[in-house]
Amino acid sequence: MSQVVPHIIRVDSVSSTNSILKQLVADGAKEGTVVVAKQQTAGRGRAERQWHSPLGGLYFSLMVRPPPMRRPTDLALLTGAAMAQTVKRFFSPEIPVGVKWPNDVLIQGKKVGGVLCEALGTGKTTEIIIGVGININTPASELTAFSHRPFQASSFCEVSSGKHFDLEEVLQTFLAIFFEIYETYLQDGFRFVQNLWERECLLLGKKIELNENDSKIQGTFLGIDGQGALVISTPDGNRRSFVTGEITCCWY
Ligand code: BTN
Repeated sequence: MSQVVPHIIRVDSVSSTNSILKQLVADGAKEGTVVVAKQQTAGRGRAERQWHSPLGGLYFSLMVRPPPMRRPTDLALLTGAAMAQTVKRFFSPEIPVGVKWPNDVLIQGKKVGGVLCEALGTGKTTEIIIGVGININTPASELTAFSHRPFQASSFCEVSSGKHFDLEEVLQTFLAIFFEIYETYLQDGFRFVQNLWERECLLLGKKIELNENDSKIQGTFLGIDGQGALVISTPDGNRRSFVTGEITCCWY
């Protein structure tokens, strides 16, 4: 199996790196193309939310073209796990870092990064655009723009009392981890991602609240199933799985 080699395109300010990469893919960009921006004027998040993207954060999108029958949701979970592993490289082990279903990355219980995966079907192949946003040197004043979210936002810099990080080093660390994991996923399938994701998740066995279509469900988080759905046991003893929804609260 041939390894995907990243080809990085750097830009200053764009609407959204996902949107720019989609256009490049339509124009024939190769697998492994990565678009990195210093800032975005119309950054997009999951559930049609905005992703506030001021200077200081890391914003990039990359394209992979997995073989048929691979699910975009596999890539989203895989990317969340790769981000958690990346973030851990920059902090000491006593700082809790992990994923929150499906692919938010938390440091000390606050969100620092998220993933927006979008599938493009062009003929017989499916291209997956993986957009990653991580608050790195993001000023504290800018983090309040995320305050409507169920989980508070943080940044690398806030967690480390104002220290500044090299965005390029974080990007290169992520790409190395991501492509290694991606190759193993192509060989071993989703089971590998499921195990990896559960290892990076901080909420296993914890009581959580899920908001699904405006109804709130509480239960104990058991993990993800073979489809990547969130599995909880509810107080009435039932086991339920959810493919959509957002964890809005957890009790450590
Ligand atoms: C989320 O809602 O948690 C996902 C956020 C994803 C943001 C990234 S930033 C780079 C890429 N371009 C976008 O417009 N969105 C993604």
